[in-house]
Amino acid sequence: MSVTAKRLVSEPLSTNPHLLQWIAKMTDLCKPAGVHWVDGSQDEYDALCDEMVAMGTFTRLNADLWPGCYLARSDASDVARVEDRTFICSLSKEAAGPTNNWVDPFDMRKTLKRVFDGCMQGRTMYVLAFSMGPIGSPMSQIGVQITDSPYAVVNMRIMARIGQAVFKLIDHDFKRVVPCVHSVGAPLAPGQHDVPWPCNKEKYIVHFPEGREIWSYGSGYGGNALLGKKCFALRIASVIARDEQWMAEHMLIVGIENPQGQKVYVAGAFPSACGKTNFAMLIPPPHFQEQGWKVWTVGDDIAWIKPDKTGRLRAINPEAGFFGVAPGTGHKSNPNAMKTLTRNTIFTNVALTPDGGVWWEGMTDEPPARAIDWQGREWTPEIAKTSGVTAAHPNARFTAPASQCPTMDPDWENPEGVLISGFIFGGRRATTMPLIYQAFNWSSGVYIGATMGSETTAAAAGAVGKVRRDPMAMLPFCGYNMGDYFRHWINMQRSLSETPRIFHVNWFRKNEQGKFVWPGFGENMRVLKWVFDRIRGEGRARETPIGWMPRFTDIDWTGLDFSEEQFEKLQSFDRAAWREEVIRQEELFIDVHSTLPKELVFERELLICRM
Ligand code: OXD
Ligand code: MN
Repeated sequence: MSVTAKRLVSEPLSTNPHLLQWIAKMTDLCKPAGVHWVDGSQDEYDALCDEMVAMGTFTRLNADLWPGCYLARSDASDVARVEDRTFICSLSKEAAGPTNNWVDPFDMRKTLKRVFDGCMQGRTMYVLAFSMGPIGSPMSQIGVQITDSPYAVVNMRIMARIGQAVFKLIDHDFKRVVPCVHSVGAPLAPGQHDVPWPCNKEKYIVHFPEGREIWSYGSGYGGNALLGKKCFALRIASVIARDEQWMAEHMLIVGIENPQGQKVYVAGAFPSACGKTNFAMLIPPPHFQEQGWKVWTVGDDIAWIKPDKTGRLRAINPEAGFFGVAPGTGHKSNPNAMKTLTRNTIFTNVALTPDGGVWWEGMTDEPPARAIDWQGREWTPEIAKTSGVTAAHPNARFTAPASQCPTMDPDWENPEGVLISGFIFGGRRATTMPLIYQAFNWSSGVYIGATMGSETTAAAAGAVGKVRRDPMAMLPFCGYNMGDYFRHWINMQRSLSETPRIFHVNWFRKNEQGKFVWPGFGENMRVLKWVFDRIRGEGRARETPIGWMPRFTDIDWTGLDFSEEQFEKLQSFDRAAWREEVIRQEELFIDVHSTLPKELVFERELLICRM
């Protein structure tokens, strides 16, 4: 392929001696056939995509219907983040804490040396410099990922700011770089035929928090391979943030604007595949739109949040794209996402339609008469009925540029970030958790976030539908001891001149028949308006044992047929269920007891007393 041939080791795009030395060292270890420094240009992107089309990794979609779009099908064994193969190799086990997989860093280095030795034989090693956050923002961080996956390179070009501009920062500003090493772990012997999706059964997603280093082996999929996202922007960044007094959170960021043009930004933590992208791109119901309410998107997955000079929290979205779950995303559920991904988008593990387009469950009410499923097999709705086989994998994804989203906030790339006035925690809970309530104060809000539970989804390999504790939606993403992370949250308040309000929502409560009670999606605006009002000190509420709740009359119901009785059901505080809930919350606290802040122990006692 011409790109590989054009630039070899002799043509680096950086003059930084540390970077050059490291690349030389990695070349010796991984033994690639060639080294390509990624300049980030459109020509280079197109050439890499052409190469992958030729390889069978990519299928070019119909350019009239889906301009600039590609479909990739992964190996059936490489479809999600692998949490049981994700390791936090801090110097001590205590530093990683009981909720992370810890391996002694000395032992892990030996393992990595073994698996990475010669792992890129027959492949090109790409040197990809990237900035998490707008180039030059004081809140941004820089990484360099070396990878033998052109799929990772083109996805990273959408998800982060990459290439020449970042090398310039490394050369001239001497910003600290987080080294990220990635290989699919499938060396090619001379003359060996390649497969469309090379990967390895043995997988290691490894983080060295003290050295701020990432090593990923064996997978080409999502968060395992796009190392700027979960590995850097959450696991490593959470450690940097703790050390530097800021926060790296698994949170969306939205701006809520009222008819007077006043705007409030909130950040929301929800576990994977709980509708964060839908929430981030929410379209208010017609009545709200007529009045002039607007919801603006800043980010859908990760927020870096820092106190400014005046002690108010400011947040940036460190990413430049959306890596969203495709199934369930449709013209009804998320028209903004559908508009975002009409062009220049990479689809992974969705179905291919006969007209050269894509389809997945939930995209339209009517499925296509036939399609090629995510594993390349013939698929029809009849096959689905008889065998239960879905056209798209449940964790199928789209990688789309954020700039294409019609509701991007004018300030989404503001280097100073946006002011954060509230946090929303939420999970997927069929019972117990009301639609909305507000914490009494910061420490009770931290308790609510710390004890969050949610039913598991397909975003990670493993059982689906079991309630697991997922504090602040960070269980798979916190790079250090969860108890210390809670302490960091409690402490953050001390650096603030204004304390953000904290809320908990649950869009997923079900009735006795197993049906969702709340319509969700755009109707969530009604809840957001109450949040907006509360933040501005204007909304009314009543006190309950768990926090402040709206009365039926505190919510604007215009245009929605939702009775007071239904609302009361949705908000009901069931003492027996909460008794059970509090006992379950204790399980996590027992795990992290040695580092648990006493504030959370007191909050728990207070909650029990109120109940
Ligand atoms: C994601 C996840 O991909 O949380 O965002 O799994
Ligand atoms: Mn996520």
